[in-house]
Amino acid sequence: MGVEVSVEGLTKSFGSQKIWEDVTFTLPEGEVSALLGPSGTGKSVFLKSLIGLLRPERGKIIIDGTDILQCTAKELYEVRKLFGVLFQDGALFGSMDLYDNVAFPLREHTRKSESEIRNIVMEKLELTGLTGAEGKLPGEISGGMRKRAGLARALVLDPEIILVDEPDSGLDPVRTTYLAQLLIDINAQIDATILIVTHNINLARTVPDNLGMLYRKNLVMFGPREVLLTSEEPSVRQFLRGSKLGPIGMSEEKDDAQMRAEMEQAEAGHNDGSPGEDELRGVPSQMQPTPGSPVRQGELRREKRVSEMLDTLPEGAQNAIREEWAARGHGNGNTATAVPAGAVAPASGGDSASGIGLDDHYGSAEN
Ligand SMILES: Nc1ncnc2c1ncn2[C@@H]1O[C@H](COP(=O)(O)OP(=O)(O)OP(=O)(O)O)[C@@H](O)[C@H]1O
Ligand SMILES: [Mg+2]
Repeated sequence: MGVEVSVEGLTKSFGSQKIWEDVTFTLPEGEVSALLGPSGTGKSVFLKSLIGLLRPERGKIIIDGTDILQCTAKELYEVRKLFGVLFQDGALFGSMDLYDNVAFPLREHTRKSESEIRNIVMEKLELTGLTGAEGKLPGEISGGMRKRAGLARALVLDPEIILVDEPDSGLDPVRTTYLAQLLIDINAQIDATILIVTHNINLARTVPDNLGMLYRKNLVMFGPREVLLTSEEPSVRQFLRGSKLGPIGMSEEKDDAQMRAEMEQAEAGHNDGSPGEDELRGVPSQMQPTPGSPVRQGELRREKRVSEMLDTLPEGAQNAIREEWAARGHGNGNTATAVPAGAVAPASGGDSASGIGLDDHYGSAEN
């Protein structure tokens, strides 16, 4: 089962450049969380800090009871085995084919035989729609395929914590949905704690249980996704809409004069192409595991957790949560009655309907 990851007062600088400070939050065990934030706010630095590749100068990172900023190298090595990480650039070894790339953590961290390794590697390649591509070098495949190979490699050790840095970048919208579905299904199957860093607003709105945003060297918020999605915080609203209008500028924060000029342009009718305020208001229903998957234990725990804190949340978030629970017959862990629309299994052995053929859909290795 996934483990809780708790971060307290975490601060990271490179030389005199402070990246973020006093970041405190908890990734609840076995839940899916996502982290948003403008480019350069230190999301990737944050993920690298969680696995001990970068060292924040202050604070605690407590994983499965161990503070990885205080522990010995041997303890850190053990904690790292809990993780499966998909780095932003895929981070594949350029001189190894996909098979060897995906097999690498198994050869490095386990004593499994080559035939056991083969079974696991082929299973993960199939899961990520890469069957047939195992002999290719990273330089010979598309960016989206490299992403999926990175994900296959992140999954081979059956991790309890999965970190994925922009899994959707370089993927088309359909593959992005398949990949998000894969993460939700994995969460249902192995109850891993998952943190997704993404710029994909649709994914951020519909996939995670919890949502946070880094901005101005701080974690502006982190909590049940409904809190951020109903927030009136200008930076959050602007980010969700992808609008020019708001405090976030092209490089650093914009100054007042630029903000005023842009507001005047908008009032005079300039359209920046972003969706209207109302289009991205509210909380869409959450992606469910593929029918036939186990019930997400993380979702059950989240309901209990959120119902205990419900009164402390902003009113808009409370209303959104109550509405969603009412619509699904959930609430207070009462998921037994919930059968989401479309979750009914086909009456007869429709193998095409049940065995969602990722391979076919991904059209894995044909180029
Ligand atoms: N090893 C490093 N040494 C020095 N500075 C670094 C290092 N790694 C990252 N930085 C700096 O830290 C800041 C945050 O980088 P990071 O890659 O975490 O941003 P990000 O939020 O992931 O952005 P994006 O959304 O574009 O991926 C940047 O200013 C970057 O230049
Ligand atoms: Mg990044």
